Amino acid sequence: MTTENVESILRLDWTIPKKDYSAKIIILPTGEKMVIREISRKEVPQLLDTIRPLLTISKDYYDIVSARVYAELLGWYRYRVRNEYCLVGIVNGELAGIVNNRIFNDKLCISLHTIALKRGARVGAHLFAAKQEHAIENYKVDEIFVTAESPIGFKRWMVEWGLEARPNVQHELGGANAYALTKESYFEKKNKKVFGERPVPKEELQKSMNFKTVIPDVAR
Ligand SMILES: CC(C)(COP(=O)(O)OP(=O)(O)OC[C@H]1O[C@@H](n2cnc3c(N)ncnc32)[C@H](O)[C@@H]1OP(=O)(O)O)[C@@H](O)C(=O)NCCC(=O)NCCS
Repeated sequence: MTTENVESILRLDWTIPKKDYSAKIIILPTGEKMVIREISRKEVPQLLDTIRPLLTISKDYYDIVSARVYAELLGWYRYRVRNEYCLVGIVNGELAGIVNNRIFNDKLCISLHTIALKRGARVGAHLFAAKQEHAIENYKVDEIFVTAESPIGFKRWMVEWGLEARPNVQHELGGANAYALTKESYFEKKNKKVFGERPVPKEELQKSMNFKTVIPDVAR
C-alpha cells in the first residue's frame, strides 16, 4: 500500500452538504461592533498562532479549552476531523473570540468549544448563539449536544440557555454528561439570545477579512 492510499483512508472531510454561514454584525455592550463570520480552512494557522499563548493559562480553564480547540482546528486543517465548522468574532479588526461545532449527522450537532479572547463584552455568549444558529437554521439539525469544561461556561450555556440534561448520553468531549439544545427550545429562546444584523456593511466585512493576530488579554 502506498502512502497516498493510506492517506485516502485516513482523510476526513465533509460527508454532508456544506452550508454557508452568512456573516452578521452585533453591537456589544461596550458599544463596539463585532462581525461574526465563518473561517475558511486556510485561515486555521492564524487562529492556531492566537490560541498557542493560552495553552498554559490555567485561569478560567483557558488551558484545557484552548488545547482542545487547538487540536480540533488542527484536525480540521489536516483532514482529521469530520464535518467541523468554525466561526470567529472580530472587533476593530482584531480576533475577539472563536467557536466551533461538528455536525454528527443530519439530525445531530456536537457543540465543541467557545473561547472569548476579549473579556467582559459577552463575546463568548454571542458566538455560542451564532454557532448554534448555524447548526439549527442552516444545517437544520433537531438538536445539539453541549457540555461545559468551566464554571463560566456552565453558567453561560446550561443555566442561561436552560439546556436539558441528558444524563445517559456521554458527550464526545471527555465523556461528560451531555445537555441538549433542541430545535424547539432554540426557537423559543432565539429572540432573547441570538442577535445580529445582516448584511454586514462592506467596509466592516472587509476589516474582518484581514484581522490581526493579537495576544489575548488573559495571556498578557
Ligand atoms: C466561557 C466564555 C466563552 C464566556 O465568554 P463571555 O460570554 O464573553 O464572558 P466573559 O468571559 O467575558 O465573562 C464571564 C464573566 O466573567 C466576568 N469577567 C469579565 N471580564 C473578565 C475578565 N477580564 N476576567 C475575568 N472575568 C471577567 C464577567 O463579568 C462575566 O460575568 P457575568 O456572567 O456576570 O456577565 C469565556 O469566559 C471563556 O472563553 N472562558 C475560557 C474558556 C471556556 O471556559 N470556554 C467555555 C468552555 S465550556
